[in-house]
Amino acid sequence: MTTNRTFTMIKPDAVEQGNTGAILEKITAAGFRIAALKKTQLSISEAEAFYAVHKERPFFGELVAFMTRGPIVAAILEKENAVEDFRTLIGATNPAEAAEGTIRKLYATSMGENAVHGSDSDENAAIEGAFHFSGREVF
Ligand code: RTP
Ligand code: MG
Repeated sequence: MTTNRTFTMIKPDAVEQGNTGAILEKITAAGFRIAALKKTQLSISEAEAFYAVHKERPFFGELVAFMTRGPIVAAILEKENAVEDFRTLIGATNPAEAAEGTIRKLYATSMGENAVHGSDSDENAAIEGAFHFSGREVF
């Protein structure tokens, strides 16, 4: 089932560098509607749970340390074909490989510190959105 929703986090690097507003502007200019939005900070156990799929990977410890070092901005976004279109908007995981004009090309500094998260499937978008937002925070 296509939900037409995806989930994103503006990661600590981009929040620290003052890029929250510019990134939200890119997102809405690309036609996404913000259904839910909050600034928050992940605990270590929350970051470990959120990225549990990567727990055997060599970069897992670094990823958890990075994602918990400062606040993030979490959002649920709505648009036709949201998951795929948002992955296109953010660009490749490694900013060196990200297409011109993508959010990671503009704002990411490395493979690890890559400015934004985007869900990789409708199923994960629903799981990740529910991880961060209760029903009464989604509009
Ligand atoms: P995300 O889940 O955050 O949207 O990123 P992604 O799908 O493009 O990449 P994924 O493979 O899911 O990796 C999750 C995050 O882990 C960090 N990473 N570091 N140092 C490394 O080799 C490495 N590889 C991945 C990145 O922050 C990546 O976004
Ligand atoms: Mg991913």
